[in-house]
Amino acid sequence: MSNIVIVGAQWGDEGKGKVVDFLSEKADVIARYQGGNNAGHTVVINNEKFILHLIPSGILRKGKTCIIGNGVVVDPASLIEEIEKLKGRGVKVDKNLLLSKNAHLIMPYHMAIDRESERCRGNKNIGTTGRGIGPAYADKMARRGIRVADLLHPSTFREKLSVNLPDINFLLEKRYRVSGFKIEDIYRAYMGYAKKLAAHIADTDIIINEMISQKRNVLFEGAQGTLLDIDHGTYPYVTSSSSIAGGACTGLGVGPTKISKVLGIAKAYTTRVGSGPFPTEIKDALGEEIREKGGEYGATTGRPRRCGWLDIVVLRHAARINGLTGIAITKLDVLDGIKTLKICTSYKHKGKIYKEFPKEIGIIEGCTPLYEEVKGWSTSTVGITDFGKLPHAAKAYIRKIQSLLGVEIQLISTGQKRDEIIQIKNPF
Ligand code: GDP
Ligand code: IMO
Ligand code: MG
Repeated sequence: MSNIVIVGAQWGDEGKGKVVDFLSEKADVIARYQGGNNAGHTVVINNEKFILHLIPSGILRKGKTCIIGNGVVVDPASLIEEIEKLKGRGVKVDKNLLLSKNAHLIMPYHMAIDRESERCRGNKNIGTTGRGIGPAYADKMARRGIRVADLLHPSTFREKLSVNLPDINFLLEKRYRVSGFKIEDIYRAYMGYAKKLAAHIADTDIIINEMISQKRNVLFEGAQGTLLDIDHGTYPYVTSSSSIAGGACTGLGVGPTKISKVLGIAKAYTTRVGSGPFPTEIKDALGEEIREKGGEYGATTGRPRRCGWLDIVVLRHAARINGLTGIAITKLDVLDGIKTLKICTSYKHKGKIYKEFPKEIGIIEGCTPLYEEVKGWSTSTVGITDFGKLPHAAKAYIRKIQSLLGVEIQLISTGQKRDEIIQIKNPF
């Protein structure tokens, strides 16, 4: 029995939802520890597609406890919509979904500030999802955040709101020149949300630690990815939370001694949505071909994802920062039919070779990726569940990645559907 952190090893959208759903079969608890409804985790079961934004992907399996931890920022309207949509599709969502009292609320003004600050940055914008994520985490750190527990105490909620709104409205009206918010409107809407969410609100730190001490299997479901992490990503082109494996501890109140394994999820190539440097981006027709074949459009915003070659410099960084004990490679099938594949093994900038991911954004933006070329394969890998059945060149590609990284590849995903996966080693 063990606990596994599932973490994105690239810039998000690696297929975490698919892997979490697959591993959930053997898990008792699935817990989100950071991010918010900027995430979009896709699970396909028998041709039915589910996109989860705030609710852990484990909700789709029966008898699992799903936790939204204190490290998550929660837009209550979005959470209620997600719950109702799932219920409408026959998924059980009641006491099996628990929401931390300490999670911070995304307020309507966070979304307005997100939108306006992006507008003001012009061509230097981050390309956020517009969900108010950054401003909500900023308020949390500035100690003026409003938490889920405050929904249960109307007078505290109102008091905090009345302290915040004058500053917020000053910013919106005087700096951004848009309308501000009225206390009464927000108060009324949020008290309505409180009624709908009350049954889910719990002391999730106590519950998850109890389950760990009972030796239950826990999956920590990361959102975003290592390169979008606030500290270890391509700052400032990142999200505002600790999306790396370490975030699982602070984002749920679980001690590092309680976490046994960390599984990094990486696509067989690389994608990125939003602004910021991306050394191995393919800017020609092949990039478009991969986008179409891989369905590389954002699960949350529908934006086209930028596509590029597999980047070992990025994955080496992810392996170190997260302490990866295993890797799942997803979307191998998307590379079917590409004659020659490229793997980036280092960067070159002003004559200097970088084997490790540079800290300076200018170097990442200005570097030239150095590639090793490997043979592609012409037959389909879609739906293959046995490593031995992969084309020779696909096996060689996987082995090459493993030897360059020195981390065991435990899973290989070969299609969108739940059972389209090769399990080389059980990650638990
Ligand atoms: P997440 O945010 O990491 O959960 O990933 P997303 O759901 O945003 O994006 C991954 C996309 O790839 C989704 O549309 C998945 O259904 C799809 N997907 C996952 N694994 C595979 C795979 O092995 N092959 C193919 N073709 N699609 C996959
Ligand atoms: P999942 O969990 C990919 C990106 C946005 C933007 C940056 C900051 O599905 O992998 P934010 O709204 O968080 O302030 O935006 O982060 N981003 C993601 N990219 N997958 C995600 O989540 C993302 N969540 C945020 O595109 O570049
Ligand atoms: Mg996604």
